[in-house]
Amino acid sequence: MKKFDQPLEVVVLAAGQGTRMNSALPKVLHPLAGKPLLQHVVNTAAALAPSAIHVVVGHKADQVRQAVDADVHWVEQLAQLGTGHAVQQALPFIAEGALVLVLYGDVPLVTAACLNPCIQAARGGDLALITADFSDPAELGRIQRGGDGSIQGIVEYRDASEKQRAICEINSGIMALSQPGFMDYLSRIKPANAQGEFYLTDVVALAVADGLAVHGLKAESPEEVMGINDRAQLATMERTYQRRAVGSLMAQGVSVADATRVDVRGTVEAGQDCFLDVNVVLEGQVRLGRNVYLGPGVVVRDSSLGDGVRVEPHTVVEGSQVAANCVLGPFAHLRQGTRLEEAVKIGNFVETKKTVLGRGSKANHLAYLGDASLGEDCNVGAGTITCNYDGINKHPTVIGNDVFVGTNSTLVAPLEIGSGAFIAAGSTVTTTVKSGELAVGRGRQRNIKGWVRPDQRKNEPESK
Ligand code: UD1
Ligand code: MG
Repeated sequence: MKKFDQPLEVVVLAAGQGTRMNSALPKVLHPLAGKPLLQHVVNTAAALAPSAIHVVVGHKADQVRQAVDADVHWVEQLAQLGTGHAVQQALPFIAEGALVLVLYGDVPLVTAACLNPCIQAARGGDLALITADFSDPAELGRIQRGGDGSIQGIVEYRDASEKQRAICEINSGIMALSQPGFMDYLSRIKPANAQGEFYLTDVVALAVADGLAVHGLKAESPEEVMGINDRAQLATMERTYQRRAVGSLMAQGVSVADATRVDVRGTVEAGQDCFLDVNVVLEGQVRLGRNVYLGPGVVVRDSSLGDGVRVEPHTVVEGSQVAANCVLGPFAHLRQGTRLEEAVKIGNFVETKKTVLGRGSKANHLAYLGDASLGEDCNVGAGTITCNYDGINKHPTVIGNDVFVGTNSTLVAPLEIGSGAFIAAGSTVTTTVKSGELAVGRGRQRNIKGWVRPDQRKNEPESK
């Protein structure tokens, strides 16, 4: 088969429990930047455009399958007998002659740019693997090289001598070899080692004995091929990920108050000259226009914020579309389905849900606006509540332009308020208010003349 004809298939190993995590959650489902470790690996595999991705699952297989959003072929490894055994489970589903790339579900930061040279090096029947130099190689597999520098094999930490443990070049676990090679070598590996497991790493010495060329490609940045085996490594990797994510935001023209105190858990697209203050968290798909200011402790999830939007501290924006020059917070909560047109102001302790506010409208303090639509230049007073829920169904509130809703108004939906209407403070409004009308819906005030304030002292028992 010609080199360029050889289809690529990826095998991702994700069947292990991850004992060292000490967790009820399978290791590969622990989140890194808000996504399961395995999701990162599967996304990278998909970026290589292979003809198939096989994910080997075993420990809590159902849970793993459900947690990962991917178009992959799931393979079950019923007993976790080692990484070599895991790859063997996928082999019956791989096309004859394909090039097979093995990735580990617990090595999540590897990039397509790092993998492509490894794939190229293995085309035509050679074996290629990615290695890295670590100053503290801990319990990783060590690369054994001969006098001429060629790779001779991999020795696992638990099986290594003191001299071998002093080697700093480690095995990332990432390996590429043609399907016939894996068929042959994996059928020959034995669990004759300290862990009694079928090691994938033993394939290397067999390939060498067979006369195959073994290409060891050193990862340009060792942190890319770091594996997660415990929670300390996970926390370190989260920081590595965040350092890169914030670095790429800064490269896009975003300023940050402290590069170690912004977290990105998704995809962020940002215009020039945004400023992110400390402890900002961006989740899911976030789009920021130019000159957006996010104050301390702001969380933005799956939302888009237009040019010049200012978000004051401790505001949460989720599933919302915010047009240019709006001002939000401090302490505001924009929920799913909020749409703000230009220059809207949402102040402290205001919550919105499935609500549209037209250009220039304001709800400056303490309000709940749910399932509502407000036109332009409305003013919503403090304490206004749209009563959108009758205990069974949700109902809409439709408000025109230039409406003034007085303080502490209760708007009982379904309700329509026409443009230019005025709601007197403290009103409970249950029926349509037409354009230009004043609605007053409250008990009349009574002032009682000659009223005498009770004197508490009169009722107190006399002291003995
Ligand atoms: C493995 C390598 C080691 C390498 C390190 C890199 C072997 C024998 N050792 O060690 O050389 O330096 O990764 O991170 O390969 N898995 C299965 N089925 C199994 C066992 C494991 O699917 O039966 C999966 C795990 O879910 C995990 C991956 O394979 O995603 C690696 O397993 P792990 O136990 O973490 O191997 P390491 O000890 O890290
Ligand atoms: Mg590991």
